[in-house]
Amino acid sequence: MNLYENIIKNNNHTETPSPYVPVMGTVERVTRVTEHERLFVIAPSNKELLNYCPGQFYMVGLPGYGEAPISITSGPGQEKEFEFCIRAVGNVTNALHRLRKGDTVFIRGPFGTGFNLEEMKGKDILFVAGGIGIVPMRSLIKAVLNDTKSYGRLSLIYGSRNPDDILYKEEFEEWKAKGLDMRLTVDKPHPTWKGNVGVVTTLIPKIEVDPARTIGVIIGPPVMYKFVILSFRDKKITDDKIFVSLERRMKCGVGKCGHCQINSSYVCQEGPVYRLKDLHSLPEAI
Ligand SMILES: Cc1cc2nc3c(=O)[nH]c(=O)nc-3n(C[C@H](O)[C@H](O)[C@H](O)COP(=O)(O)OP(=O)(O)OC[C@H]3O[C@@H](n4cnc5c(N)ncnc54)[C@H](O)[C@@H]3O)c2cc1C
Ligand code: FES
Repeated sequence: MNLYENIIKNNNHTETPSPYVPVMGTVERVTRVTEHERLFVIAPSNKELLNYCPGQFYMVGLPGYGEAPISITSGPGQEKEFEFCIRAVGNVTNALHRLRKGDTVFIRGPFGTGFNLEEMKGKDILFVAGGIGIVPMRSLIKAVLNDTKSYGRLSLIYGSRNPDDILYKEEFEEWKAKGLDMRLTVDKPHPTWKGNVGVVTTLIPKIEVDPARTIGVIIGPPVMYKFVILSFRDKKITDDKIFVSLERRMKCGVGKCGHCQINSSYVCQEGPVYRLKDLHSLPEAI
């Protein structure tokens, strides 16, 4: 089969797509979230791509620019379209920011491990997100908030550099109404901010935790992990109940190029979501 035939096959609604060949997606909506991030609603031509779970990612690309790994930010169970929130930092992401309604984007995936929702059922969950870590966390939060009776107490600590960088503000009232205990913080004092000031770890001691029934989830910038893990351990949450999502440079997404490798693990396949206990054998992970 030549490349052209493969592309046609991959864009067929009924075929399981090849992870090597992009599927076309139509940009349905673009919303400015902050100065640096935009939310893209995209309808893939092959609806099989919508079978994802929170924590997974896609390779999102444009001809002439390349591809970038981007996390799913919409909740699972979508039938027509999914959402990506993209920060413009360089070549591919700036080109993606120039897309408008009706434009075409090329997508492969979903890739990697997601969060195991079955394991989380019946437990309290303490989510800790820093910066753009709220992007993949939102997919998990939406999944859990759509089925709150299956979970125990749900708490989110979300830290941002300053109030203008806080993502998804307009959704917070709905999240709280569904039962999420939300604690926000910004790194430094700001004239418009009346809430907590300081890094996310300043809020962890204020959350009541029953370590026997709590799962901790951490997604954020690399520097955050070590300190949040120490705070979780102070709360006696054990490493088998802590989940982290790691970010590494990626090219193929399918375990072939080695760009994402940490010790013996390919993050694109065995990650990006890891159980902290499993990272003990990967000293370069955190
Ligand atoms: C699993 C995974 C999920 C991700 N999810 C999202 C998401 O949902 N939204 C989003 O906006 N971004 C996400 N990223 C980061 C995104 O992939 C990078 O910002 C993107 O690849 C940069 O590509 P570029 O061509 O625009 O930038 P480049 O021109 O390649 O680089 C621009 C700058 O960004 C730095 N950079 C490039 N890639 C990375 C990286 N992986 N980590 C840290 N710095 C990098 C470079 O060093 C350079 O300083 C994710 C990354 C991974 C690995
Ligand atoms: S991105 Fe190529 S091996 Fe993981």
